[in-house]
Amino acid sequence: MGHHRGANSRRPCAWVAAAVDVEKEGAMAENSLNVVDPEIAELIRAEERRQADTVKLIASENYVSRAVLEATGTVLTNKYSEGYPGKRYYEGQQVIDKIESLAVERAKAVFGVNHANVQPYSGSPANLAVYLAFLNPGDTVLGMGLPFGGHLTHGWSVSATGKWFNSVRYGVRRDTGRIDMDEVRALALEHRPKLIFCGGTAIPRTIDFPAFAEIAKEVGAVLAADIAHIAGLVAGGAHPSPVGYADVISTTTHKTLRGPRGAMLMANSDEVAKALDKAVFPGLQGGPHNHTTAAIAVALHEAAQPEFKAYAAQVVKNAKALADELLARGFDLVSGGTDNHLILIDLTSKGVGGKPAAQALDRAGLETNYNTVPFDPRKPFDPSGIRIGTPSVTSRGMGEAEMRQIAAWMDEVVTAVAKGDAEDVIARVHGEVTELTSRFPAPGLS
Ligand SMILES: Cc1ncc(COP(=O)(O)O)c(C=O)c1O
Repeated sequence: MGHHRGANSRRPCAWVAAAVDVEKEGAMAENSLNVVDPEIAELIRAEERRQADTVKLIASENYVSRAVLEATGTVLTNKYSEGYPGKRYYEGQQVIDKIESLAVERAKAVFGVNHANVQPYSGSPANLAVYLAFLNPGDTVLGMGLPFGGHLTHGWSVSATGKWFNSVRYGVRRDTGRIDMDEVRALALEHRPKLIFCGGTAIPRTIDFPAFAEIAKEVGAVLAADIAHIAGLVAGGAHPSPVGYADVISTTTHKTLRGPRGAMLMANSDEVAKALDKAVFPGLQGGPHNHTTAAIAVALHEAAQPEFKAYAAQVVKNAKALADELLARGFDLVSGGTDNHLILIDLTSKGVGGKPAAQALDRAGLETNYNTVPFDPRKPFDPSGIRIGTPSVTSRGMGEAEMRQIAAWMDEVVTAVAKGDAEDVIARVHGEVTELTSRFPAPGLS
């Protein structure tokens, strides 16, 4: 009897809880995305399924945690807050100020800097703010050329930064595939840039921040380290930090750092910090995206945990395992391998262009992007290479054994494409990929 009463006394609580849930869901249902816009809701579900079922090898992407996703989809999107914490142009900042201050403090702690601006909408506007802070139109910027691994915003011709500024570009050595620091120094001495960018978007090797700092000092240039790709590795101690060398650190928050789509600018000197803040707002932007700011704060909280250090180390270990297996299978890797999360493959020796290879791999469930390689004789929209990376597969918990398997699949698909008879191989590999992805659920996906 006592037993029964005990069971009954628990049951009503469970019923109440369940009833409340049903009521809540019922109340929300008529306003929910599923009901209001089933077309978009279904497309989002389709993209979620696609992300779950694909081995994502795109070096600039990741899977954010459920916590980061939750922060992104909140009422914070409703609030305007032009200005900075404590100095806004709108009322009602009691909560937003706290959120932005937390994000700033966490960025400072994770990267070991004195100042952080978490408002840039994305990496490109963050870099534009660096120009606005330190250059006038027509001034000279020295950056890595796009075909060598630099980003558009480092002064490439089609970008506003290449049109409005006098841009000079450095590259890599033909024999090593690595940045030619002698060339960087010679160009800096010849052109006397006001701004030098280091870092990039397709660089598989460690950036030598001290060497760049020495050159920038020699010519009196501002040194900006764009760590968009490697920010998570820097935060996790798997790549040297630019702190103490670069005047400005620019980064996106959505790549190896595993945050929402956003960006940050960091500095140690007060003078540089002031110039950056003024350039972001009111120089370039209006109201910050507060839902993104909150999600950046969450990502930085995650990046401060010991697990993130292990994650960053595993990203590099996985990239090395993947590179070693690709090399063993006769792939030609730019610079001969990798020090970080990224591998750039020149497919010339395999007799396939980057685009048909990437398209076939995507159909097999292996998502990559086609990419120019240094001194590429082909056009950017039909280049010789593909770029791959390990941030996403590592977030799913995959390790070196899975990387060797992925390299084997890539070899099979690329070889079949070269032979002009890839359909059966693509179908078989796709089946095997689906089996692998089902064993490694991606963070944030239901
Ligand atoms: C090195 C680097 N800087 C800046 C950016 C620009 O970031 P976003 O695409 O967010 O504008 C990227 C993006 O790929 C990048 O790789």
